[in-house]
Amino acid sequence: MNGLYRPILPARTEAPATQAGAPVNGAPRSPHPRQAVRNDGRTAFEALPDTDWTGYATVYDLIAAHNPAYQDLVRRFRDIAGTWSPVPGSRLVDIGAGSGNFSLALAELYPDCTVIHLDGNAEMNAIAAGKAAARRLTNIEIRTADIDAFHLEPGSVAGVTAVHALYAFPDPRGVVRRLSEWLTPGGHVLACDPGRVLDTGEWARYIFGATVRRHGLVRAVRLYVRALAGLRQNRHIAQRQSAGSYWLHTLDEFRGVFGDAGLEVTTAIVTYRGCSDLVVARKPLPAAATHDAWLGELEPWARAVAPTPI
Ligand SMILES: C[S@@+](CC[C@H](N)C(=O)[O-])C[C@H]1O[C@@H](n2cnc3c(N)ncnc32)[C@H](O)[C@@H]1O
Repeated sequence: MNGLYRPILPARTEAPATQAGAPVNGAPRSPHPRQAVRNDGRTAFEALPDTDWTGYATVYDLIAAHNPAYQDLVRRFRDIAGTWSPVPGSRLVDIGAGSGNFSLALAELYPDCTVIHLDGNAEMNAIAAGKAAARRLTNIEIRTADIDAFHLEPGSVAGVTAVHALYAFPDPRGVVRRLSEWLTPGGHVLACDPGRVLDTGEWARYIFGATVRRHGLVRAVRLYVRALAGLRQNRHIAQRQSAGSYWLHTLDEFRGVFGDAGLEVTTAIVTYRGCSDLVVARKPLPAAATHDAWLGELEPWARAVAPTPI
């Protein structure tokens, strides 16, 4: 990584406790200096500014449109998800879907499938709904709910995606276990998540630089001023990452969480200028189905002598 992230704390993948020893993200923690109780009786953790997703929503797509790394991620997402070929009529789900840049991509890729766009923020969802209507997409369901209050029947979806969202969920490992249950055997997962603390100053310079090259200095300054509300939320996100309230992970830890949930990881890469980890995985097919699929590929004479599964 080219100095994009600033490790504020020694490499910790595990978040510190809000109260000494209280588990965060499902794992016990040793108290963190920042959890010391302040004069106002709150811990530094509690005093952290909440990420204002409503405020972020107003400029989210403006920043995304001028962030080349984000546009690369959208292209990579389409390339990977475009290889899935879910059975027509099946459901796909994008969780923490925000303004819809990935859920709408799924809906465009698979017009015969229903895409569930799940996000806890009504402002983000309203923007996604508006974009879906503008693109005349009718195969997308926008759902406003907290991820912990969102449930699907086991084995009922053909694919789940989560881009830059798991880190903000209270229990990301629990969500990965749940999405594994939602998947039908053979179902697909694409998850991309920032595992390192964002160096928001460096990112702002990167996006500003790219915007100057594309639109010139004057326009870049105007766009920068309009985007300030979003850049402020990025700082809040980095503060929460540093304080351990948002999930941090290495690529191996991220891959491990999907493996632990019983999924077969087929791709695990660092992406998004070194800040994010991307995993592509699949829910294993039951032995019989795998055997049938294998048989199907054989020549008729070979099928006649093929061994049966144990
Ligand atoms: C950084 S945005 C990512 C949006 C989109 N996936 C993208 O990459 O453009 C994170 C999204 O997660 C949503 N989110 C955060 N915590 C959530 C929760 N507990 N339940 C549901 N959605 C949540 C926020 O509202 C926000 O839209």
